[in-house]
Amino acid sequence: MKYPSYRPRRMRRSEGLRKLLRETEFSLSSLIMPYFVKEEGRGKDPIEAMPGQFRWSPDSLLEELEEIQELGLGSILLFGLPQEKDEVASQAFAQKGVIQEIVRLIKKNFPELIVITDVCLCGYTVHGHCGILSDQGEIDNDASLKILQRVAVSHAEAGADIVAPSDMMDGRVRAIRDALDAAGFKSTPILSYAAKYASSFYGPFREAAHSSPLFGDRKSYQMDPANREEAMREIQMDIEEGADIVMVKPALAYLDVIRDAKQKFQFPLAAYNVSGEYSMIKAAAQAGWLDEKKVVFEILTAIRRAGAQLVLTYHAKEVSQWLKEAPNSSARNLKV
Ligand code: PBG
Repeated sequence: MKYPSYRPRRMRRSEGLRKLLRETEFSLSSLIMPYFVKEEGRGKDPIEAMPGQFRWSPDSLLEELEEIQELGLGSILLFGLPQEKDEVASQAFAQKGVIQEIVRLIKKNFPELIVITDVCLCGYTVHGHCGILSDQGEIDNDASLKILQRVAVSHAEAGADIVAPSDMMDGRVRAIRDALDAAGFKSTPILSYAAKYASSFYGPFREAAHSSPLFGDRKSYQMDPANREEAMREIQMDIEEGADIVMVKPALAYLDVIRDAKQKFQFPLAAYNVSGEYSMIKAAAQAGWLDEKKVVFEILTAIRRAGAQLVLTYHAKEVSQWLKEAPNSSARNLKV
């Protein structure tokens, strides 16, 4: 296509024009707020590496959820912090496990809220790996799948609206789909962490969830940050295995991967704006080096612009507060 060349210029745009021509909007309905839930005690404990985030007791979380519902947030992602860990992650699928209990409570009190549960073993195993180990001390993929199936079904039984496997074992989406179907949860969707990189941006999360591996790392089952095409293969596999939403994680250092996925697959796409991405902004804002609100809006717009339909972000609650304070930033006084 040829553009007219007789009047080269860049338009100077008023706020109204900027709005009219804006290509990307994000609304609260595209944001998902993650929460860490502890099993015992009362109140909420601050997570040092993630200012503004907490480990919530069940009762304090219910109060929080009442608040975010009023602010207009409709979806949450839950991570459980069990009291007891063991070799086979039994608390991850226990009927009275931390997640199972809190999901039942949440659905009883807030039936409308979309509850997504993280399906993984790393927070529930003594060694902190995302699967269980063989006698040789290696991840046993197939044995891990059996446990993950039980975890996913137990979450669905408790009332989870969506299950989100983040473990990266091979074949987990199909295994979980089969198990959910067999247990009568044919319409419970799977949000799969399809392209999950072995990223150092998860650092603060591991402090929050006490889930650092005791030995080794997660490189054998998470992706090399240098790989872009591999991400497409991972996503394709998860779609073929029956995922309903696929996710790229982290978000900011992987916007190209989000864009590729958006173009290659016409499929619901999520991005996880992870703990390290959150904490960097918080730290800089606390030091007075950045305008937090503006930077957060810019980042979330960028993730949406890259192609993510849904964004999981620890900023979600604050964004909902900011939007409430100034729903229309260019509100003007009428002259009569
Ligand atoms: C568990 C899991 C992790 C995150 C989400 N699910 C940690 C990891 O893989 O080490 C990271 C989220 C974040 O950093 O905010 N497998």
